Amino acid sequence: MQRIDTQDELRRMLAAHRELGHSVGLVPTMGALHAGHASLIRRAVEENAVVVVSDFVNPTQFNNPSDLRNYPRTLDQDARLVEMLGATFLFAPSVQEMYPSPDTRVFNLAPLDTVMEGARRPGHFNGVAQIVSKLLELVLPDRAYFGEKDYQQLLIVKQMVRQLGLPSQIVGCPIVREADGLAMSSRNLLLSPECRKAAPSISAALRNALPILSAQGVDAAKQKIANDINATTALRVEYVEMADPETLAPVHEYAPGHAMAFVAVQAGSVRLIDNWKY
Ligand code: PAF
Repeated sequence: MQRIDTQDELRRMLAAHRELGHSVGLVPTMGALHAGHASLIRRAVEENAVVVVSDFVNPTQFNNPSDLRNYPRTLDQDARLVEMLGATFLFAPSVQEMYPSPDTRVFNLAPLDTVMEGARRPGHFNGVAQIVSKLLELVLPDRAYFGEKDYQQLLIVKQMVRQLGLPSQIVGCPIVREADGLAMSSRNLLLSPECRKAAPSISAALRNALPILSAQGVDAAKQKIANDINATTALRVEYVEMADPETLAPVHEYAPGHAMAFVAVQAGSVRLIDNWKY
């Protein structure tokens, strides 16, 4: 595994591999790698001859400066994991390297960015589109891997790739959960012991909603999920939405396989998201 921090060097290394006909996989991350990232990297290693893991805390997708400041950074530990998993390159550029001048590009991500995270975090998905498009244009991977925990992001990246006509296949990978059900997230590292103990109530509420959803419908299920999470004093629900898994349009009537619950929850100073398909 080789650590690279400039775009030029990565381009040079990948050109050599491409001349040999090697397929290339990209796993974009913001570091603080956990078992969820490991599952993406493992899949990329299985499916591609060469794997680039990018490790870059992208400032343009943070709409809250203290969230950017506090975002966990564990590069040396990340490098050990990436090496162990058999990836070829760890690309860890500086902010100056990725943004030598301000990125003023505005992407048309509607309607997917008008709901949920897009509605609550202005500019967030435009920042994601800026960095992901830069990485895809730099690496030109055959496949790029994204986790389904950030499900709205996954759909937005797919739409952006279609709009820009980029050649990469975007591969969505299932959420990896802790033994107690908490969806893996780099932000879990920031949870206080009390909030960490409470956080599994989020996935439990999602998992337990199916009987109510089938028997009493969408509104009752959303209410039950919110009540179950808010019953834990350390957690406060920001939103519970039920949406179509392909379009993210709100779902009002339950049809099996066509409803997905999305939640955002404040756990102390940490904001957690999760989702569940029914
Ligand atoms: O999901 C993330 O970690 C980030 O949004 C991504 C895709 C690496 C872009 O910075």
